[in-house]
Amino acid sequence: MGTFSRGLNRRDVLWLLAYGSALASLGALPARAISSQPLVKAIPATGETLPVIGMGTWKTFDVGRDSRLLGHRMKILQTFFDRGGRMIDSSPMYGSSEAVIGYCLKQLSNTADPFTATKVWTWFSSQGPAQIATSQDLWDVNTFDLIQVHNILSWEDHLKTLRKGKEAGRIRYIGITTSHGRRHTKFEQIMRQEPLDFVQLTYNILDREAEARLLPMAAERGIAVIANRPFRRKALFHLFQNQPLPPWAPEIDCANWAQFFLKFVVSHPAVTCAIPATSQIAHMEENMGALYGRLPTQVERRHMIRYVESL
Ligand SMILES: NC(=O)c1ccc[n+]([C@@H]2O[C@H](COP(=O)([O-])OP(=O)(O)OC[C@H]3O[C@@H](n4cnc5c(N)ncnc54)[C@H](OP(=O)(O)O)[C@@H]3O)[C@@H](O)[C@H]2O)c1
Repeated sequence: MGTFSRGLNRRDVLWLLAYGSALASLGALPARAISSQPLVKAIPATGETLPVIGMGTWKTFDVGRDSRLLGHRMKILQTFFDRGGRMIDSSPMYGSSEAVIGYCLKQLSNTADPFTATKVWTWFSSQGPAQIATSQDLWDVNTFDLIQVHNILSWEDHLKTLRKGKEAGRIRYIGITTSHGRRHTKFEQIMRQEPLDFVQLTYNILDREAEARLLPMAAERGIAVIANRPFRRKALFHLFQNQPLPPWAPEIDCANWAQFFLKFVVSHPAVTCAIPATSQIAHMEENMGALYGRLPTQVERRHMIRYVESL
């Protein structure tokens, strides 16, 4: 662990010292009653609310037809629903993931009310409608809650297709996606000129480029934001999991690093939800813990950044 004071100003140090001594005088971490109500945020276009933690499926749900792995992914999805999750994000780019989601949704008894989100991903605009129809078959749904143009590939034509699908009632919301740092200028231009319900972009405690322009633009234009790669794939755990959580983590209802990282992401006012991916039930349990308790304030968010930057 590096020096704790690096990156902290005098006010931060005083805050941390005061908090630390308050804890020491109690002799234990304060017990807080955590609400059993999941944290939700509104989709600006309609006011419909969504739980702030969803689920990604890149790699983690691409398990083909192996019956043991399919059974295991069913348990992961069941845990997600049991803990209050709704949004599942996938793409035709993710190998067998869409087929695996469809299989799991059919087998599970308690699927609550899934919010189905996939993407269109093809260079050829003429192939968009057929790809969407294939996704409908794989998920076994008539209507998708959200279809996004994956990595803004051939976005002009695909957005036309998505708009038609929305008018026909086959798609409820439409959007575009990008990954870490890529194509931000073009992305911003599309956000400015096209009516969109959702954007999906990379945002996590170390990758905060979106704060400069994309997140303010989403807030200004009334566009919901899905944060992908909230753990920078797995890199945040590799960097920090052997370090202690700050002593004030219980104050923001974070029992582990996963919750710390996720609460940072979803406490940005412009972010609607995060979609961490996992292939492990225990990790899903940890991640869904971020759906409960309170979110950090803007001041606490700055302390979170400074803490990880000090490690
Ligand atoms: N352009 C796009 O549209 C785009 C780009 C990137 C991502 N996405 C979407 O966003 C989703 C999330 O991004 P991502 O999958 O790249 O990365 P991520 O969610 O940041 O990280 C996933 C990794 O974190 C690990 N992990 C999850 N929970 C953990 C926990 N509690 N403790 C320790 N490790 C944990 C997982 O390993 P385990 O399996 O061992 O848990 C997995 O390797 C994707 O799945 C996809 O749906 C979309």
